[in-house]
Amino acid sequence: MTPLDYEFLRKLLKERSGLDLSSDKQYLVESRLIPLARRAGLPGIAELVAKIKGGSDALTSEVVEAMTTNETFFFRDKIPFDHLRETVLPELLTARAGRRALRIWSAASATGQEPYSIAMCLKEMGAALAGWRVEIIATDLSLGVLEKAKAGIFSQFEVQRGLPIQMLVKYFTQTGELWQINPDIRAMVQHRQLNLLQDFSHLGTFDVIFCRNVLIYFDQETKAGIFERLAKVLEPDGVLALGAAESVVGISDAFKPYPERRGLYRPNPAKAVRAGGGALSALKVVASAR
Ligand SMILES: C[S@@+](CC[C@H](N)C(=O)[O-])C[C@H]1O[C@@H](n2cnc3c(N)ncnc32)[C@H](O)[C@@H]1O
Repeated sequence: MTPLDYEFLRKLLKERSGLDLSSDKQYLVESRLIPLARRAGLPGIAELVAKIKGGSDALTSEVVEAMTTNETFFFRDKIPFDHLRETVLPELLTARAGRRALRIWSAASATGQEPYSIAMCLKEMGAALAGWRVEIIATDLSLGVLEKAKAGIFSQFEVQRGLPIQMLVKYFTQTGELWQINPDIRAMVQHRQLNLLQDFSHLGTFDVIFCRNVLIYFDQETKAGIFERLAKVLEPDGVLALGAAESVVGISDAFKPYPERRGLYRPNPAKAVRAGGGALSALKVVASAR
C-alpha cells in the first residue's frame, strides 16, 4: 500500500468511525482490506481507494465496517456486571420506585453479548422488577454485527466465553451446534444502528449506559466530545460503565468515578447539562435526583 493510500484511508476511518490509527498500522489495514477488495472484484488496495474516491458509498461503509473490532463476550470483565447486580440495580430500584421504569443503553453492543448479559442480569432480579417497564437499547455502527445480535444465535465457542453454564441452560436453546438466546430475553433488547460520532440525543435519557471497549479506539478529543454528550443523556443519578482499559480521568470532567466501583462513573453534578436544557446548578441536579 502506498503512503498516500494509507493516509487517505486513515483520514476516512477517523472521519467516519472515529478510529484513530497510528502511522504504523498498514499491516492491519492490509490484512482487513485486501480480502474485502478481492471480494469486490478489485485487485488490491490502490483500486479500492480509487473506487472510494470515485464515490462508492456502499464500499466506503464496507471499509469502515471491516476496520471495526467486534471482539466481545458474555459478562465481559465480570466486575461491571457484578456491580450492576449488586449495587446499581438495587439502588435504581429504590430511586425509580415511583416511575417503575428503567432505560439502559449498550452503546457499542457488537454481536449482542453485552446487552444480553444485561438482560439476563435484569431477568435474574425476578419479582423485584415485576410490573416495571424496562428498555435495553443496543446500538452499534456496524450493521453486520447488529444482524447477528438480533438473531441471538451463538456458537459453542461464544457461549463458552464468560457465560455461566447455569445461565446457558436457563436462557438458551440448542439447535445443532448453535445456541439461540430465548425469545423472552431477546425481546428485552432493541437493536439500532448508531454512530457515536453523531448526535444521539434523540435516544432520550438513560439510567445506565454501558459504553465499553469502543472509546479506546478514538483519540482524546473524540473521547472527550463523546463523554460530554453521554453525560447529557444520563440521568443525574445514572451510571456509566466503561471498559477495563478505559477511563474518563484526564480526558473529561463530565463524569466522576463512582466511589469504590472500578469502571463505573456518575455524571459530575458541577458540570451537568441535560439533553435539550441549559446548564443546571449542582443544587438543581441534587434536587432532581431525589
Ligand atoms: C470491541 S467491540 C465492544 C463490544 C462490547 N461493548 C464489549 O465491551 O464487549 C467495539 C464495537 O464498537 C463498534 N464501533 C466502532 N466505532 C463505532 C462508532 N463510531 N459508533 C458506534 N459503534 C462503534 C464496533 O462496530 C464494535 O462492534
